Formats: sequence, structure tokens, C-alpha cells
Amino acid sequence: MLSLFLLVHGIGNSTTFFGSEAFNAYAEKLHSLGVLVQLFELGLLAVFLLHISLGLSLFLQNNQSRPVSYEVEKSSGGRTLGSRSMPYTGVVILIFLVVHLVNFHFTDHSIPISDIVKNVLRQPLYALFYISAMIVLALHISHGFWSLFQSLGLNHPKYNGTLRNGTLGAALLLSAVFILIPLCTLLIKKFLL
Ligand code: HEM
Repeated sequence: MLSLFLLVHGIGNSTTFFGSEAFNAYAEKLHSLGVLVQLFELGLLAVFLLHISLGLSLFLQNNQSRPVSYEVEKSSGGRTLGSRSMPYTGVVILIFLVVHLVNFHFTDHSIPISDIVKNVLRQPLYALFYISAMIVLALHISHGFWSLFQSLGLNHPKYNGTLRNGTLGAALLLSAVFILIPLCTLLIKKFLL
């Protein structure tokens, strides 16, 4: 569900590349759904909380089952940088999310959303924060997208290689969209004009 949300959020946000009018029209269309949006937000909050608590309990379970860590860090058993760093990248994303919601959600919506985004991302510190957080997000979803198929039982030795490459490609592409938005807003004066 979170992967689906990110995908839709990424596609929606990519309207910024077509200018402020397209982006504002997209946001207005979304808000015109009224009570559906509020219901969706509540559902999303519940899914985020569930995701965090399940992730945390898995992390603690892992630690308890092997209190003394391995002497050699090996990537055997399919471990990747993404899978090994999940709890830490997760915490960074959580911090990002709090800042992000304060920036764009719990703010004065009497001005167009394109101006809200511009006012934040034209500030170099915020742009750098967003870009760094999106690099961390890339690492998190590089494992998360793959793991989603494992959780659903959609794996087969014959197709696992393709699945791994496909989910990695999708994670990198989506992260690239998320990284390009603060980068373009900071560097291109005409972006979102
Ligand atoms: C450069 C990257 C991003 C940009 C420019 C961006 C932009 C926005 C904007 C403009 C809104 C407010 C929409 C509105 O209320 O009209 C929003 C909401 C939100 N964003 Fe992002 N976003 C980015 C990345 C992310 C990422 C990576 C996540 C999740 C990890 C995320 C999660 C959310 C959530 C949960 C909301 C609230 C949704 C709602 O209230 O319906 N965003 N974002």
C-alpha cells in the first residue's frame, strides 16, 4: 500500500515538470474529492503506523535472536546494502516525513501549492535536506519494492533475477523523480513559474 502511495505521489508530483498550472490543477482536482481525501489520509496514517510498528518489532526480534553480532559482515543469503540498512533509512524517512508534512500539508493553503513548494525548495538548506532524504529513500525502497513481492509470495527461482532488477529499476526511477523536483526548483529559476 505504501509502495502504491509512493508511486501515485511520484506520478502526481511529476506534473511539476509541466509547470505550475499543471501542478496546481492536479492538486485542486485532488482536493475536490472532499471527504474521500480525508478518509484516504486516515487510512494512510494507519498504514504508516502499522509499517513502523511491524518494522520495529522485526528489528527487535532480529536483535534478540542473535545478541552477539557476526564478526564478518557478508552479503550472503541475498543481503544487500538496502536490506541491511532498512531500520536506519526508515528512521531518516520518518524524520523527513514530519518535516515534509509541516512544510506542505500543515501550512497555509490559501496560496497556490506551487508557491508553497517553491517557497520551501528555493531555500538551499531545505533543497539539500530533501535531496539527501530522497537518496536515503532510494536505498529503502530498493529493498522495499523487492520485499513486497516476497511478502505476497510472488517469487520463483526462474524469475527472481528479473524481479530483482525490475524492482531496483523502478525504485531508482521513482527516486530520480523525487530528487529532480528539489534539484530543479533550486537550480532553475523558471521551474514552477
Ligand atoms: C521531492 C519530493 C516530494 C515533493 C515535492 C512532495 C510534495 C508534496 C506536496 C505538495 C504535498 C501536499 C499535497 C496537498 O496537501 O495538496 C505532499 C503531501 C504528502 N507527501 Fe509528499 N512530496 C515529496 C516526497 C514525498 C515522499 C518521499 C513521501 C513519503 C515517504 C511523501 C509523503 C507525503 C504525504 C504522506 C503527504 C500527505 C498526503 C495527504 O495529505 O493526502 N512525500 N507532498
